[in-house]
Amino acid sequence: MSLFVFVPIPLVVFLVAKFWSVMQNRNHKSWLYGRRVNHLLQDVLSGIRVVKSFGREESEIKRFEDATQLQSRQDEANAKLFDTVFPLLGFAVRFGSYLIMLYGNVKLFNGTMSIGELHQFNSYANIIYGPLLWITFIPRQISQFLTSLGKVLEILEEQPDVSDIGLPIDIEIEGDISFKNVTFGYETYNPVLENINVDIKKGEMIGIVGHSGCGKTTLVNLVMRLYDVTEGRIEIDNVNVKDISQNALRSQIGVVLQETHLFSGSIRDNIRYSKPMASDEEVIAAAKLANAHDFIVNLPEGYNTMVGEKGYSLSGGERQRVAIARALIHDPKILILDEATAALDTETEKLIQEAINKLTENRTSLAIAHRLSTLRNADKLLVLDRGKLVEYGTHTELLEKKGYYWRLVMAQKQDSGFVKKQA
Ligand SMILES: Nc1ncnc2c1ncn2[C@@H]1O[C@H](COP(=O)(O)OP(=O)(O)OP(=O)(O)O)[C@@H](O)[C@H]1O
Ligand SMILES: [Mg+2]
Repeated sequence: MSLFVFVPIPLVVFLVAKFWSVMQNRNHKSWLYGRRVNHLLQDVLSGIRVVKSFGREESEIKRFEDATQLQSRQDEANAKLFDTVFPLLGFAVRFGSYLIMLYGNVKLFNGTMSIGELHQFNSYANIIYGPLLWITFIPRQISQFLTSLGKVLEILEEQPDVSDIGLPIDIEIEGDISFKNVTFGYETYNPVLENINVDIKKGEMIGIVGHSGCGKTTLVNLVMRLYDVTEGRIEIDNVNVKDISQNALRSQIGVVLQETHLFSGSIRDNIRYSKPMASDEEVIAAAKLANAHDFIVNLPEGYNTMVGEKGYSLSGGERQRVAIARALIHDPKILILDEATAALDTETEKLIQEAINKLTENRTSLAIAHRLSTLRNADKLLVLDRGKLVEYGTHTELLEKKGYYWRLVMAQKQDSGFVKKQA
């Protein structure tokens, strides 16, 4: 009779093992649908202005509903399957107890066993079945747990694309930058920059020009080592950037990105983002350099005005100037300006232009601009065309050469003439 208790256990173990991969698959699927719902929601909410201004609320609601429907259907199907399979497993576990009853009753009628003994044996058997039944329910929870755990581990084990070498060098940057046969592609098979060779001396201001998508932003990203080059090397003061500690590198480079992002918080906090300990005087000095001070003190709460998602909305040009102040606060040795004047009217551009001239005096600066007039004061111009360095030299040299840069300048001149005529 004791053996009867254990008869169904191998079967149950076998079934649970068989069912395991099905459970994993289904949980994974449900997890994927859930993730899609979250992505969709985040996407729509962060672009809510676009959604509203194009009147797409209805269709976005529909899209969200479809996604949640999909998830709920999957969850329902999972629940149905589990609620069918697990009671069956429970039945299988208890199968031993039916055998005990059958055999016990036969013995009872034969008179070889008393009713008390049978009852007693059955109670003992149930003590064993209780935990066994419980075990059949665990796989479902374990499987859900493992699915989530797998995702967490995936993120924890992710290796950063760029990491410090064993003993990174903390250098005091002077500001020489050289590109040596630099080739780079976001995907290695599709190079965005090809065989770039250029030497930039410390203190020089370099203007980077070229058509949209030719690789200007990519080039400066490489100097900051947001990505590692595929071939060749970039050196700062004759040290490969791969050998410089990322902390040393980033704390001595100031950047104004093409898309300015202000964090939720006060203007003051945004300006001293890269140097949290900066004093008020330093913040104001940086803001003055960026020609931002005047507009900031005219805001209702001056430097304490809250900006960012839930705060005061600054105009594009104002944001840009706050971003410039932020790049300056730690007095960087290398300054990178990606379209820093793109969002400005001519008047403000002049202000910024003055500021930039001051800023670029004692540091190496790389400035990207579409409006070529912005780069009048650059020491050298670096002209890119589809990832290749086509020209490098001063404004006058390149104009005399009547090459690629000259054509860019002529095209813009014609455009602005055209605009004037239209006006
Ligand atoms: N993160 C990325 N992953 C894959 N491709 C990218 C990525 N960033 C840029 N690219 C591609 O690399 C090329 C160069 O982009 P880059 O941003 O450097 O151009 P750009 O010269 O700065 O253009 P713009 O003047 O419009 O800012 C483009 O074809 C772009 O689509
Ligand atoms: Mg760009």
